[in-house]
Amino acid sequence: MAISPKVKPDKALLQQLGKDNLWLGFGRDSSFFDRDASIMVSGNGCWVTDVDGNRYLDSSACLGAAILGYSHPRIIKALVDQAQIMCSNASGQPASIPTILLAHKVATLGLGEKAKLFYSLSGSGAVDTALKMARQYFKITGKASKYKTITRWGAYHGATLSGTAASGIPSRRRAFEPLSDGFIHIEPPYCYRCPWALTYPQCGIECANEFRRTVEREDPDTIACYLGELTMGAGGIIPPPPEYPRMVRQICNEHNILMIVDEVITGFGRTGTWFEWQQCGIVPDMVTTAKAITGGFVPVSAVQVRPEIADVFKGPNVFMHGYTLGSYPLGSAVGLAVIEEMEQTNLLAEVNRKSEVMMSELQRIMDSSPVVGDVRGKGLALTIELVKDRKTKAEFPDLDAVRKLVGSVGRKNGVLLAMSAYKGSFMFLTPLIINEEEIGILMKAVSAAVKEVEAKCG
Ligand SMILES: Cc1ncc(COP(=O)(O)O)c(C=O)c1O
Repeated sequence: MAISPKVKPDKALLQQLGKDNLWLGFGRDSSFFDRDASIMVSGNGCWVTDVDGNRYLDSSACLGAAILGYSHPRIIKALVDQAQIMCSNASGQPASIPTILLAHKVATLGLGEKAKLFYSLSGSGAVDTALKMARQYFKITGKASKYKTITRWGAYHGATLSGTAASGIPSRRRAFEPLSDGFIHIEPPYCYRCPWALTYPQCGIECANEFRRTVEREDPDTIACYLGELTMGAGGIIPPPPEYPRMVRQICNEHNILMIVDEVITGFGRTGTWFEWQQCGIVPDMVTTAKAITGGFVPVSAVQVRPEIADVFKGPNVFMHGYTLGSYPLGSAVGLAVIEEMEQTNLLAEVNRKSEVMMSELQRIMDSSPVVGDVRGKGLALTIELVKDRKTKAEFPDLDAVRKLVGSVGRKNGVLLAMSAYKGSFMFLTPLIINEEEIGILMKAVSAAVKEVEAKCG
């Protein structure tokens, strides 16, 4: 069967083959193929087109990856040019020119000229790599008792076993228990639903105090690292209070704990700086990045490591870890093109302006509907959180039904709307290239979805 964007595909056959042979991710069963917009054919800018020829604005940009949208000409050209020279090159073999140049470029944009970049192929791979580095780092430096990771409930850190153990979304953990030892979860800095029922700023940043208490209770000599996002993504777009990252950094310093910042969603400009840590008054020890490093065009991820940490891995203590295709010339050439495009179009400068436009629209939607409990976010990682009762913040008892309704109203309005896996929060992770007209289209769909939820579930 010839399938190309230029030949009208046989939808019924594709649906059947999809049902028979394709095992979809994140718990989608074969009934997924019965719904509209289940098979996509092409993408352009912020839009994707399905087998019926319907176009949809992708409001979560390929789960945050497609910062430059789909089918960007400069990136496609870089991809094709590199493909003609050399696509792949196994880790452990001689390096390639693009992998060296991208590592250097990311160093200059991130942790500094001498920072080291270790490549892998997914956010999950980057997180797993960072966790292994943290454990070995303490073996090398004579503190082998330090192996535990402190992480947060509600966070998502990947699909590997270690990522699942590090993640704090119960529905993504239970089926795989018992999970790996050594992962301790603390409450996230979720001000809207503060676990201590406190209010910022009078709260004294109790969520950071909880980190200190947990370190002391567990014994600092057993803790290797803290692993956390700054603005939490899949857990419901939760930016931390400004003091939180600095307090975490301070506690890590006091107890010789490595601070791993997971920027798989926020990295490469989503919050208005190359990395979110750059606006938080901290310098992490390691930064994981994926998705947007190649604009989602090809799978590449990486851990960036401060030189003082990376430099201890030498002689008999080398880092015996790697992925066959983890040093990927094709992906690195694409990464370089993405950065070049962002620099030449000064895209970062646009992020906060677009964010303000979206925030004020979201605020307007909240003002007009009792089922919107909160509006929050940073840069172009924004959300509204839906609640059954704004006063009590009670959640909808059947969040899955709410998610389905939102998705279907979105599609009727030409927009793919995504909600987080954790609470009733939307995931607005639009391409950074979104324009004002497209923001208008998105907000119209959100408004319609909120009205439907109010009418049918409220
Ligand atoms: C913060 C964070 N870390 C890790 C991951 C895992 O990335 P991947 O799906 O590329 O393995 C994700 C995925 O959404 C993420 O949001």
